[in-house]
Amino acid sequence: MTATTSDIDKAAGVLRAGGLVAFPTETVYGLGADAEDPTAVTRIFQVKGRPPTHPLIVHIGGVEHLSDWAEDVPATARLLAGRFWPGPLTLVVRRGHRVPLETTGGLETMAVRVPGHPVALALLSAFGGGVAAPSANRFGSVSPTTAGHVRAELGEAVDFVLDGGPCEVGVESTIVDVTGDVPSVLRPGGVTREDLQAVLGRPLAVHSASRVRVPGRHPSHYAPRARVVLAEPQRVIAEAERAQDLGHQVGVLVPQPFAGAAVKAHAVVMVPGSMAAYARRLYGFLREFDGQGCDLIVASLPVEEGLGLAIANRLRRAAGPRPAE
Ligand code: TXA
Ligand code: MG
Repeated sequence: MTATTSDIDKAAGVLRAGGLVAFPTETVYGLGADAEDPTAVTRIFQVKGRPPTHPLIVHIGGVEHLSDWAEDVPATARLLAGRFWPGPLTLVVRRGHRVPLETTGGLETMAVRVPGHPVALALLSAFGGGVAAPSANRFGSVSPTTAGHVRAELGEAVDFVLDGGPCEVGVESTIVDVTGDVPSVLRPGGVTREDLQAVLGRPLAVHSASRVRVPGRHPSHYAPRARVVLAEPQRVIAEAERAQDLGHQVGVLVPQPFAGAAVKAHAVVMVPGSMAAYARRLYGFLREFDGQGCDLIVASLPVEEGLGLAIANRLRRAAGPRPAE
């Protein structure tokens, strides 16, 4: 059920009172608090079990508010914000005075975006301030893409959950750091590198060396309970069957051309050929495998272009570091 105006007013009241509101964005659900309230923001870290040094994204209601929040906004930031907001792009810029260090994990820079979801925009407009929000999941686990996922994972720890239906994009925003001489992508996401490059007119480095902590770049992030192993597409079924024979309950993410006939596995998902459709459903697939009692997931990486880059990044992170040979 989608949030009503009265739900949105209630949620804005919860934020004003220093409470926590889970809300839909076009990417994933966020766990929000008043970005200017250090006590409220500190509760986000407690509920998520997230180290306080890992900075949050400040969500704002429109591109015209950017300079109310950030200092020395560079022309590149204005260019990208003008083109991609509201939408799945987060910019790292210099922190303005109203943003407490609790929100930025102690950094002098901040992450900021205008989300492209009507319920998120209505909440930001009713609240009137900025909403600091990480994804509404426990630290390290799979981001929620429905209100049901949030309730199942965080339950009573959240003061209010706004339901805006399933998220359209399904993976988190692309994070672009524009504080250096050249912009760089800190996390691939819903806006593709190709689209960013077309607007910037220059190639963009992904995961270039960065002084800051980006949890999405740590091992075993975005991880379901089941262990995730990666295989070449043509090896996925053989690997899955081998593990199933060894007694594992195996979940399989396989592109249709490599699926074969009767697969010996606990649960098999043929992944959509469209990367937009795959991104939208990726986290749901991982959660379903957990729900079905899988202890191992065998997946292949899509081609790393367009949204395939973000999907491959999340699968690699979920798989974590390779065991020593
Ligand atoms: O799509 C999204 O971005 C979602 C929705 C809710 O907006 N949010 C999200 O938040 O994914 P979270 O906390 O799960 O990821 C935020 C990322 C983290 O990797 C964090 O390290 C990075 O943003 N970040 C925040 N501030 C930063 C800064 N000043 N410099 C570099 N990275 C920063
Ligand atoms: Mg997250």
